[in-house]
Amino acid sequence: MSALLEVRSLSKAFGGLLAVSDVSLSVEQGEIFGLIGPNGAGKTTFFNMLTGMTRPTSGEVLFAGGAITGLRPEQVARLGVARTFQNIRLFAGLSVFDNVRIPRQSRERSGLWGNILGSPLASREERETSEAAWELLKLVNLTDRAMRPAGSLPYGDRRRLEIARALALAPRLLLLDEPAAGMNPSEKAGLADFIRQVRETFDLTVLLIEHNVPMVMGLCSRIAVLNFGERIAMGTPEEVQCDPKVVEAYLGAQKRDAAAAGEGACLHSTM
Ligand SMILES: Nc1ncnc2c1ncn2[C@@H]1O[C@H](COP(=O)(O)OP(=O)(O)OP(=O)(O)O)[C@@H](O)[C@H]1O
Ligand SMILES: [Mg+2]
Repeated sequence: MSALLEVRSLSKAFGGLLAVSDVSLSVEQGEIFGLIGPNGAGKTTFFNMLTGMTRPTSGEVLFAGGAITGLRPEQVARLGVARTFQNIRLFAGLSVFDNVRIPRQSRERSGLWGNILGSPLASREERETSEAAWELLKLVNLTDRAMRPAGSLPYGDRRRLEIARALALAPRLLLLDEPAAGMNPSEKAGLADFIRQVRETFDLTVLLIEHNVPMVMGLCSRIAVLNFGERIAMGTPEEVQCDPKVVEAYLGAQKRDAAAAGEGACLHSTM
């Protein structure tokens, strides 16, 4: 395996607040990698820097061997990095279908004039785009609601639609920011299998932010833990969940001492 994403000493300061502080990690091709940490730890800021939405104060991001630090969001997306948002961002007034079809269109080669003049390439691409969008809606189980406005869907469906929208860009790396937030228990239960299935089907690498600790532990091969912007731990789920620093960040100093003494105060046992 080789690293698809490599992050070197990435930092972001907002005024006097160091939201992300000197964080390094690398994600291997095909891996499902977890990024966890308490509220305000810097996880979303970290994603924003990877995707060109926030310019890092310092540090470097390499994707597939090339530097992407400082590129604009659409440039990063074109190279193969797609994301979903903690606060869902869909075109609420457009149909479910168009929310997937329109980003897919960005991959067409025929351009505006080809479409206006009705070139054969343009009409073939239009058909292929619609078919691909339809396949993605099948995958997320939304074909029966394809023509409804996206804003009318229940929360869990909107979360899945956001994943379909990200997949429409045919990414190599998918960044998911709290995909289980707002889902009901049965939707949550299905989400882990869904992420695995998507990874297999599209040969993807996944970087996942999620507060649902049991889900992250079950899904990810490795996990990095942020706290106040710093990477306080990194390793396999087994290594991370009983790490005293991680236990302290989540559960307080008392549990940390128990974890350090090997008294079984681990993350999964209480969350
Ligand atoms: N645009 C901004 N301007 C100023 N401060 C910001 C900005 N964005 C984030 N922050 C601050 O940076 C810190 C990290 O925020 P961030 O949203 O990255 O955390 P998070 O780990 O994603 O938290 P959560 O689990 O609540 O989503 C917080 O203290 C937040 O208030
Ligand atoms: Mg966040």
